[in-house]
Amino acid sequence: LTEEKTVDVKKSKKKQKKEDAWRPEGPRDPVAMLNALPESKQQEIQRALHLFSLGSTLPRTLQQAKRRIYRFWETQPVPKLGKMRTAHGPIAETETSVRKEHYSLPQGFSWDTLDLTNPTVLGELCALLNENYMEEDDNTIRFDFSLEYLQWALQPPNWLAQWHCGVRVDTNQKLVGFIAAVPANIRIYDEERRMVQVKFLCVHKNLRLKRMTPVLIRELTRRVNQQEVYQAVYTAGIVLPTPLSSCRYWHRPLSPRKLMEVNYPGVRQNMTLQRAIKFHRLPEVTKTPGLRPMTKEDIPGIHSLLHANASKFHLSHILSPQEVEHWLLPRETVIDSYVVESNDGTLTDVLSFYGITSKVLNHPVHTSVRAAHLFYLTCTATDLLALMEDALVLAKAKGFDIFTALDVMDNRSFLEKLKFNMSTQSLHYYLYNWMCPDMSPEKVGLLLAN
Ligand SMILES: CC(C)(COP(=O)(O)OP(=O)(O)OC[C@H]1O[C@@H](n2cnc3c(N)ncnc32)[C@H](O)[C@@H]1OP(=O)(O)O)[C@@H](O)C(=O)NCCC(=O)NCCS
Repeated sequence: LTEEKTVDVKKSKKKQKKEDAWRPEGPRDPVAMLNALPESKQQEIQRALHLFSLGSTLPRTLQQAKRRIYRFWETQPVPKLGKMRTAHGPIAETETSVRKEHYSLPQGFSWDTLDLTNPTVLGELCALLNENYMEEDDNTIRFDFSLEYLQWALQPPNWLAQWHCGVRVDTNQKLVGFIAAVPANIRIYDEERRMVQVKFLCVHKNLRLKRMTPVLIRELTRRVNQQEVYQAVYTAGIVLPTPLSSCRYWHRPLSPRKLMEVNYPGVRQNMTLQRAIKFHRLPEVTKTPGLRPMTKEDIPGIHSLLHANASKFHLSHILSPQEVEHWLLPRETVIDSYVVESNDGTLTDVLSFYGITSKVLNHPVHTSVRAAHLFYLTCTATDLLALMEDALVLAKAKGFDIFTALDVMDNRSFLEKLKFNMSTQSLHYYLYNWMCPDMSPEKVGLLLAN
C-alpha cells in the first residue's frame, strides 16, 4: 500500500469504529467467539476451566456419584447406586412391542444411519471422532482413529448398519452426533446372553450439555430392542449408575524420551530423562520359544484356548471362530496377535494388542503418540510375566510409544514387575438391563476396543 492509501484505510477504520460505537450490540454467539480464537488460546481456556473444575462435572468417584442426581440414568433399567445386589437377571420386563418411530431430535437435526461401507461416510465419522473425542482435559492430545481402525471396531461379524446411529444438521448435513452398537455374546456369571457392546458415543463439542446423549442412547436402545436384544455392555471413565466393576489403567512407557517431551499423561515425571530411559530399557529380542504372529490357520486353536480361558472369569466375550478371525487376525496398524506353538504343533498361549494413535497438538517436534492396548491374553504353558515382557518387546519393535493395560484378569501379577505405572484414570464396566453382584477387576475377562 502506498502511504496515501494506508492513511485512507486508517481513516475509514476509525470512522467505522466511531459509527459502530453507536450501534446497539446484539447478543454474540459464545461458541462462535470461542471458535474464532486460535487453537492455543482455546486450549489455555480449557486448561483454566479444568483447573477450576468448571468443565464437565460428571463424577469420577463413587462418593461423588452418590451425591449426584442422574436425571436420565435414573429412568433407565440399570441398578441403583449404593444398593447391594445379590440377584441375577433382567431389570425391566421384555417389551412385547418396540416403539416404531424414531425418538425426536430438536428441530434442525435428523437421524442418519451411517453406511460405513461408503468411504465418504466413514471419513466423516473419522473426522467427527478425531475432532471431538478428546482424550485429555487440556485438549493437547487427541485420538486419531484411522479408517481401518473404525472398520475393525464397528464391523465385526453380524454388524448391522442401523446400529451405526448418526445425527446430522439439516441445513448442511454435518455429522454432529454418533453412537454405535456391535453384537456380542457375553457370559455374565453363569449366564450366556446375546448382547451388544455400545461404543463411540460422541457429541460435537459445540452441542455439549444440551441433553443430546439421552436421545442417542434411547434411540440406539430402540434399534437394538427391535432385533430382540435387551442387554448391553459398555465402559466409561465416568461413574454412572452403576458400575459392575471399576478397573484401573496402567501405562508402560516404551519410548520414555518422547512421552516425557510431550508430557504424556500417566508417565512418571519425577525421574531424570537419563534415568527414565535406563529404567524402561527392554531386551532387543523376545525370549519365548515358539512365539510367532498369528495366521488364519491358528483360528481353531485360538478359539478353543479362549473358550477355556473365559470360564475363569465372571464377565467374558464368547467368540465364534468368525469373531476370532475378525478380532484377532493381524491387520497392519490395527491389531497384532501372536501365538506360542509347542514342539508338537499345539497352541498353548495367545497374546494380542490393538493400536490407537493420538495426535499431539502444538508440539514443535512430535505430532503423534502410538499406544498399544492389551487385548486378548491367554497363557497355559508360558509364564505370564515372560510372555508379557515379550509383548512389550514386540510392541516397541512395531513402533509403539506406550503399552496400556487394565488391571483385569491376572494382569496384576505382572503390571508392577514390568514397570507399568498406575494411572489416575479408571475404566468402569456397565451392563444395561441386567442385575447381578458387582465384581473385582481380576474377575473381568472382557476387553472392549473403542
Ligand atoms: C460423552 C458425551 C457424548 C456427553 O455429552 P454431553 O453433552 O456432556 O451430555 P448431554 O447433555 O448430551 O447428556 C447428559 C447425560 O448424558 C450422560 N452421559 C454423559 N456421558 C456419558 C457416557 N459416557 N456414557 C453414558 N452416559 C453419559 C450424563 O450422565 C447425563 O445424564 P444424567 O442426567 O442421567 O446424568 C460428550 O461429552 C462427548 O462426546 N465426549 C467425548 C467422547 C467421549 O468421551 N465419549 C464417551 C466415551 S465412554
